Amino acid sequence: MNKQRKSALSRRQFLQVAGSTAVALSLPGILSACRPSSASGALKIGVLLPYSGIYAVLGESITQGMQLYFEALGNEIAGRPIELITEDSKINPDVAQQKVRKLVEQDEVAFVTGIVSSGVLAGLRDYFHDNQVLCLCSNAGSNAHSRAAKTPYIWRTSFTNWMAPHAMGTWAAQNVGRTAVISVPDYAAGENNVTSFTHSFTAAGGEVVAVQRTPFPNMGDPAPFMAELSATGADLIYAFYSGSAAVTFVKAYHDFGLAQQIPLTGAGFIVEEDVLPEQGAAAQGVKSTLFWSYVLDNPQNAQFKTDFHAFAGRDADVFAVQGYDTACVIDEMLKRTEGDTAVGQLIAALDGIQFDSPRGPFRLDAHSQAPEHNMYARDVQPVDGVLRNVILENLGPIVDPGDDSMG
Ligand code: BEZ
Repeated sequence: MNKQRKSALSRRQFLQVAGSTAVALSLPGILSACRPSSASGALKIGVLLPYSGIYAVLGESITQGMQLYFEALGNEIAGRPIELITEDSKINPDVAQQKVRKLVEQDEVAFVTGIVSSGVLAGLRDYFHDNQVLCLCSNAGSNAHSRAAKTPYIWRTSFTNWMAPHAMGTWAAQNVGRTAVISVPDYAAGENNVTSFTHSFTAAGGEVVAVQRTPFPNMGDPAPFMAELSATGADLIYAFYSGSAAVTFVKAYHDFGLAQQIPLTGAGFIVEEDVLPEQGAAAQGVKSTLFWSYVLDNPQNAQFKTDFHAFAGRDADVFAVQGYDTACVIDEMLKRTEGDTAVGQLIAALDGIQFDSPRGPFRLDAHSQAPEHNMYARDVQPVDGVLRNVILENLGPIVDPGDDSMG
């Protein structure tokens, strides 16, 4: 798999790690969780993702990225066959609640992965915590779950929503302009983007002059929102949208003539590979920050892109990378526990997992329970006749601060 992984811990090392983590977490009972666990037989993994609605394409890519990685392992880890049980959470916390109960209580999965929307993660947080079920979240970036609402049972293999807007706030103030208007969908992830961008943009000498919140999940007619942005006279727009909402926003931005008027910047999801073909020329020139780009030049990314295309019949996107990295974390975690799925052992095994991902160096940070990885400033430009996010600058490693001190 072209990966440099840490060698599996010896049994003695593992017990030392498990013991110290249990003390550090001050969680009596965590290592004696009463959920059934085993070290043999099929390894059932619950995959809770949106396969319908505005984030359907994200769910599909995350699933295929995971499947690609597991297929290369012969669908087996530590001698146990892997069984992925997928459920459509939509973008609805109530539906997700029913589906997670089915996965855990009927299917008896060893742990759960997936979850795209921060609203869904917030709705499931207490279920994971109270029932001592491990969730390896492969997208939803809500800052709170690395901070005030943190629980040892939720770890992110994706990002936190603080990261992309934090990087763009500084970069935009230095490279694009001094006054900004923010446009986001009206839910937790949008709010995270407002707070984080405002903090770093202001710290770098900029001023946020207005914030626009659009209906979530469906924006409806974008015309009034475009008229509002056009009237602000700001130096730049910062926007967070993903999936089909990103297509709607970027196309409308172009069609209403704003692309000629005010530079558009955003968290990289707004012009990611999942939406770029549909956005076409409307996306050209959009600047964004993200932890991966299709054109990122490293051996892991080159191999991943080739393998993903052969597997899925289409180009990879960042969500496929997230699925692939999630599977890599699961692989390493279960090697460290020698296939045992007792929740305390799984949690202890996560601390410090690191490998070379298609996104560059990846390390799970035990404080924020989310990855440390590089951020890249990107610009949509044609490469060999295809629109790609060309890398303008490697902004270096970023890790969530684990509190609200920086937005
Ligand atoms: C979120 O809800 O946290 C989210 C959704 C789509 C892309 C990125 C973040």
